[in-house]
Amino acid sequence: MTIDYQQKIPNNVDLASDKTLQRALEHWQPEFLNWWSDMGPEGSHQYDCYLRTATSVDQAGWATFGYVKMPEYRWGIFLNPQVPDRKIAFGAHKGEPVWQEVPGEYRANLRRIIVTQGDTEPASVEQQRHLGLTAPSMYDLRNLFQVNVEEGRHLWAMVYLLHRYFGRDGREEAAALLERRSGDADNPRILGAFNERTPDWLSFFMFTFFTDRDGKFQLSALTESAFDPLARTTQFMLTEEGHHMFVGRNGIRRIVDRTCEVMQRERTDNPEKLRALGVIDLPTIQRYLNFHASVTADLFGADLSSNAATFYTTGLKGRYMESRLKDDHQLLEATYPVLNASSGQILSEQAPALNALNERLRDDFIKDSNSGVDAWNKNLEERGIDFRFGVPHKAFNRQIGSLAALKISPEGKVISAQTWNANVRDWLPTPEDCAFVQSLMGRVVEPGKFANWIAPPSSGINGQPVECEYVRFS
Ligand SMILES: [Fe+2]
Ligand SMILES: [Fe+2]
Repeated sequence: MTIDYQQKIPNNVDLASDKTLQRALEHWQPEFLNWWSDMGPEGSHQYDCYLRTATSVDQAGWATFGYVKMPEYRWGIFLNPQVPDRKIAFGAHKGEPVWQEVPGEYRANLRRIIVTQGDTEPASVEQQRHLGLTAPSMYDLRNLFQVNVEEGRHLWAMVYLLHRYFGRDGREEAAALLERRSGDADNPRILGAFNERTPDWLSFFMFTFFTDRDGKFQLSALTESAFDPLARTTQFMLTEEGHHMFVGRNGIRRIVDRTCEVMQRERTDNPEKLRALGVIDLPTIQRYLNFHASVTADLFGADLSSNAATFYTTGLKGRYMESRLKDDHQLLEATYPVLNASSGQILSEQAPALNALNERLRDDFIKDSNSGVDAWNKNLEERGIDFRFGVPHKAFNRQIGSLAALKISPEGKVISAQTWNANVRDWLPTPEDCAFVQSLMGRVVEPGKFANWIAPPSSGINGQPVECEYVRFS
């Protein structure tokens, strides 16, 4: 089989001139398409969808819009332009030139970082594959598909690095990325949150709000990498991540909007009454928020981690906004506060900053999440509604790290198992909540129509009207 790479796989890495890479991708591409056909959005393969495709990294080319059938989507490989004379910004190699090839001694760790990032991309497509069947509108259906194809492109981005720089091991890892399955008992995805189900659209919006934001922070830390191709490819991935988080932030805002409208019209905040009117009461939204925030907080890993220290010291993974931070960028003496839960309460203690890098990235993530939630609260305030959303304390409902041993309330208080059991129905989605949200899910796909539980967006995609036919079914 021959592929016209410029045509079939838009790229700025001169794919056609690299025969080894070309052969590797010739084997991998049909496997990817098989995976998409099995695990991509259910029932969608014949649809014409109004999607953006990256055809270059510049202003004009990174978002080219048009109708495309998703199996024919042009998943491209794009790295941001090389910065001439770029130097390593942190760690033991600080000040040395960045690497264009993988140093032998860091090969295993770099491969692990790339595989772990790469694994999340197809995982989320698998988690979301049934959602199209219950889309609340054609606009939302299109956004779901946009997120899905771009996660597919992110997989391509990581697979390119594996094929190009890691030889046979890389090819084996690239194959394994298509074999693991989200939630599979025998061969699951690598990280916990990517094995959870995304059973309804409230979950989907929370996922794109929180878990794609984890993506933003992980990718940002990798944009600092001394391995230049990884830095450049993650820089470009971040431009797409922005839209994924927009889908979440705006999706929740529209749900809240609709609920508030009904609350004000009916003059009630009674959850039972609101549910009977077919909208999602605010406390239920908060419980979903608590669940997704805590599951995502776990993705940052143990609060103290010698791996994180090694990745930093060896220049593989930096901090969020590393180059803008004002310190020695080596952290040999520095400390950072972490929570210690050993004595039955949580105390903030100073730990070596190098070992606390996961915690630091988690804190950066929580700060960023809070600013999104503040926007929903501003809306409530403007409407004069006496309810505020909050991101739970970072120790709440954790399954990883020293905090996992304790029961901790959303406010961050250590509590007994008894108190936990007495309150957990107010803090995390109950089976009844999930069943109710599920009961609202039905397919609304007439252009310009929206399910009862969600308000229309204020504008459409790429200057198109809200009622545009974003998806043509035949
Ligand atoms: Fe992604
Ligand atoms: Fe994403």
